[in-house]
Amino acid sequence: MVEVEPLTPAIGAEITGIDLRDIDAETADWILAKLIDHKVVFFRDQELDTEAHVAFARRFGALETHPVKPKEGFPEVMVLHADGDHPPACTAYWHSDVTWRPDPSLGSILYAREVPPVGGDTLFANMEAAYEGLDDETKALIEGRYAIHEFEPLRRTLIASGADEERIARYEEKYPSVRHPIVRAHPATGRPSLYVNCLFTMGIEGMPIEEAKPLLERLYAQAKKPEYQCRFRWRRHSVAFWDNRATQHYAAADYFPAIRTMERVTIEGEKPLPYCGADDGNA
Ligand code: SIN
Repeated sequence: MVEVEPLTPAIGAEITGIDLRDIDAETADWILAKLIDHKVVFFRDQELDTEAHVAFARRFGALETHPVKPKEGFPEVMVLHADGDHPPACTAYWHSDVTWRPDPSLGSILYAREVPPVGGDTLFANMEAAYEGLDDETKALIEGRYAIHEFEPLRRTLIASGADEERIARYEEKYPSVRHPIVRAHPATGRPSLYVNCLFTMGIEGMPIEEAKPLLERLYAQAKKPEYQCRFRWRRHSVAFWDNRATQHYAAADYFPAIRTMERVTIEGEKPLPYCGADDGNA
């Protein structure tokens, strides 16, 4: 029997009774609906080889190729590995994935191949609740504004993964700064969410940095409120599927020197559209 158990009122649900190797179009649609409702859905004890992981993700759209740490033979799979010689990397910051892209992803599907005995949890925040929780004055300040997002923060990760300056320069040329609305409308529901993150957002268009910085800090702080969050304790072969358009996440880097190996497949998204108020016709 298929069951859905919410983790917190704000975000997250664990789904049981589905084998992700064997789903039809109707089940995929149902999972997508649960994803939109709960923002992140979790599955346990899934025996996925890389092909099955990729095949499951393809049910939801075309897949991205990430420039950092692609798996050999599977460019659409990003390997996130840490151990005694490789400390946890840049995912221990609140962020949405790839907001440096003009059309950042719909969602990511993360699979746990090896996890520490304790630690390495991932925290998720509901950025629709984060927007809703802002006071009216702040909402008015950010209405219609755009923020600048950059690829540059991945430079350190690229260096750690062995990329040379020439390759990094190629990526920096390929991924120039992009602008996204600070409040985006969810493409499926029209609901507003706060779309800036402390990893990739660099400033606010048309606002002096001395003014933008404290405002952005205030907006980033919204993701840190426990009332908007859930925290997922991984087991080997667990899966997390998050809606990248309405969430942020943070991978707790508290398990060094234990081994943690995760594989992420990311589904292509679309250009974020600004939220234009309750009566803008979005549905
Ligand atoms: C990520 O930020 O995409 C990875 C999260 C994790 O490793 O838990």
